[in-house]
Amino acid sequence: MSSFRELFGADPEVSAEAPGRANLIGEHTDYSGGFVLPVTIPQRTRVELRRRRDDTARVHSVQLRRTEEYRVGSESARHDWLDYVQGVTAMARPRPLRGFEARIDSDVPPGSGLSSSAALEISMLRALREAFGWTLDDVRLALLGQRAEVEFVGAPVGVMDQMASSLGSPRAALFIDTQSLRTELVPIPAGLGIAVVHSGISHDHASGEYRVRRGECEEATRALGVASLRTLTVEDLPRIEALRPPLDRRARHVMTENARVLEAVEALRAGALERLGALLAASHRSLRDDYQVSVPDLDRLVALAAEAPGVFGARLTGGGFGGAIVVAARPEGLRASMERVAERYRAQTRRTATVLVPR
Ligand code: GLA
Repeated sequence: MSSFRELFGADPEVSAEAPGRANLIGEHTDYSGGFVLPVTIPQRTRVELRRRRDDTARVHSVQLRRTEEYRVGSESARHDWLDYVQGVTAMARPRPLRGFEARIDSDVPPGSGLSSSAALEISMLRALREAFGWTLDDVRLALLGQRAEVEFVGAPVGVMDQMASSLGSPRAALFIDTQSLRTELVPIPAGLGIAVVHSGISHDHASGEYRVRRGECEEATRALGVASLRTLTVEDLPRIEALRPPLDRRARHVMTENARVLEAVEALRAGALERLGALLAASHRSLRDDYQVSVPDLDRLVALAAEAPGVFGARLTGGGFGGAIVVAARPEGLRASMERVAERYRAQTRRTATVLVPR
């Protein structure tokens, strides 16, 4: 592994980092102006950076062992990892910016629904903010990261991941109202451990189903004549159920999931961990049956985790169709217990699950 000095012949001027996230609850609600409750994970992306006098950007990925080059101000998509960096500099205008050298090192696993892309965008933005002296608060920084992904990379994501990476903090969940962008850190009670287990099934929400679900939500919004699905409550259930399938199920998921997030915040505050677990389980069922973003082996992993001793509840986390699950459980012996879940999962599915949290 080469150091910054070995790569670029001088020491970096700044270094910055940003974490990946697991979403505790509030899935597929953020692009409908709803509520989400992510937690940061220990895995993070680190960027070391040094300004250049010209407009050349030279960017090294430690994991890929590659150095790539492009001109700041002439970004053009290549459909690979560099697009997240190019997207960030393309969105930075009119802020002061020139070329730079950057070394990127990350242990956030890509393709697991843990926001490796947001961790890259946010760490890069933090490094650029410091190196070029931008005045940019953490919410605006998150919005810039989201724009890079939506407008440059072309993945129509919501704002949760960038907000979580930019504003999250260890030992607290970050409640986000994705409409007003109001946030609140909700402490994780001492009796609660959080595990994240990758299913061994890779996902790709830039394509296909994610886009389809977004479209269905927009159609349901129009059909119901509301400003956003966020405004729906239980009172609207008869109207929701009168929508043409599958819009009825999609809108019902968003409505019930938003209610579950608010309840989960209360449960965390009250230390009502059994209640929290039940909400996670209900969220998974809703994602499986109403939103239809799960796959059978992911359901299997959630079921195996839910049966493990000390577990309050489990659900898929992130966009779905693979990736990781999040588990709320007693903290004692959590890693070993999740390793046993991974063994049973392998025996039943022949897939390799990886316990990513706790480390
Ligand atoms: C991806 C997106 C987020 C959010 C989740 C689903 O992680 O990046 O904006 O929509 O899927 O909750």
